[in-house]
Amino acid sequence: MDIAVFGTGYLGVTHAACMAELGHEVIGVDVDPAKIAQLQKGEAPLYEPGLADLLRKHTASGRLRFTCSYELAARADVHFIAVGTPQRADSAAADLTQVNAVIETLGPLLTRPAVVLGKSTVPVGTAVQVAARLRELAPSADIGFGWNPEFLREGTAVEDTLRPDRIVLGAAAADRSRVKSVAREVYAQSLADGTPLVTTDLATAELTKVAANSFLATKISFINSVAEVCDAVDADVTVLADAIGYDNRIGRRFLNAGLGFGGACLPKDVRAFRARAEELGATAAADLLSGVDEINARQRTRVATMALDACSGIDSPRAAVLGLTFKPDSDDVRDSPALDVAARLADAGVEVQAWDPHGMDNAEKRHPELRYCDSPLAACKGADVVLVMTEWAEIRDLTPEQLSEPVQQRVLIDARNCLDPDVWRDAGWTYRGIGRR
Ligand code: UDX
Repeated sequence: MDIAVFGTGYLGVTHAACMAELGHEVIGVDVDPAKIAQLQKGEAPLYEPGLADLLRKHTASGRLRFTCSYELAARADVHFIAVGTPQRADSAAADLTQVNAVIETLGPLLTRPAVVLGKSTVPVGTAVQVAARLRELAPSADIGFGWNPEFLREGTAVEDTLRPDRIVLGAAAADRSRVKSVAREVYAQSLADGTPLVTTDLATAELTKVAANSFLATKISFINSVAEVCDAVDADVTVLADAIGYDNRIGRRFLNAGLGFGGACLPKDVRAFRARAEELGATAAADLLSGVDEINARQRTRVATMALDACSGIDSPRAAVLGLTFKPDSDDVRDSPALDVAARLADAGVEVQAWDPHGMDNAEKRHPELRYCDSPLAACKGADVVLVMTEWAEIRDLTPEQLSEPVQQRVLIDARNCLDPDVWRDAGWTYRGIGRR
């Protein structure tokens, strides 16, 4: 099939590369000429396992092309809208500027029969409006319209796209069979592998995405709220999570207490869903999600306070921050709890020495005031407190013997509960985790 993918951010570029890998002819479209030039050379604009190989292979074969030209892309059979929907600057709601811009530009160019599928995460009710506007802009074109949300995780984005655990497809009743048969062609390989296809209306499809992310966020904030109770009574939240996680109705995943969730998706999706629920008068959802967001924000404050307490009374205190990305195996620092806490410590007058295996370039662009070091040991030099902020394997493998020499004080805050407290305490360190005091 001839596929166009609008937007070459995380979602769009991964989707375009994976569609080419599945055998389709793909054109990726973006308004940013610098990004398109880089992609035309087959270079990956971000660190994501497997992506660089796919881009190289398929741009070389010509099966995957990139362009700024909507005219060229408008000839495709299937159009995926995969642009960003960040949080608005003035509220918690999602900013739909990029989605609307794609529709306004693409609509008048659609002259042949085509199916348009939305992938971006949008507030419920958006898809109906987008479909109506598209048909207004292209009255003579025969357009099928659907919403096909994406559930990829950073770090496993390629794998998640090539082998998703479900495909969700929403369409109005009149469009459904056409859109479904196109999706069956696009995703033929996944469907042959047994991936479930859930077909539904547009609103349910839009909601599926924000509900999934909000559920994951709720699990994290739930365990973080339990961690606070554990701290009050000297219980251990990591053992508790193992114990409740054996119940397969609960499950162990997303029950790691710590610094809380960050990244480009979970925080903004929780807020946008809350804002939309409020607009719709669904106060139970709005209240629950406000709580989830507040608990998450509190984790960052708790860790910053723990570090400042460890530095109290010290002239010119110094903190080592190990890990800056929002999670391991990613170079992404967008809404990273680690970087946020590091910046707050610097604001409070602490000299911050930071290290991360892949996130330092991105972190430095946002927070040049931190001192970036070329190894974890260099970051720990003269430190009064060491903070473990992202559970990279390289950080989990550090030993007390390695860090005892460079530090000034043996105080460790394990903000991801990823180290063994006994090992560090036995080596003479003051170890503090989250909910495992
Ligand atoms: C998330 C969803 O998982 C994915 O399905 C959706 O499509 C996009 O948003 P991602 O942002 O890549 O994916 O990260 P994820 O692995 O979900 O982690 C999000 C945050 O939660 C990270 O900051 C992580 O450190 C934190 N987290 C995760 C915890 O604090 N505790 C946990 O137990 C799990």
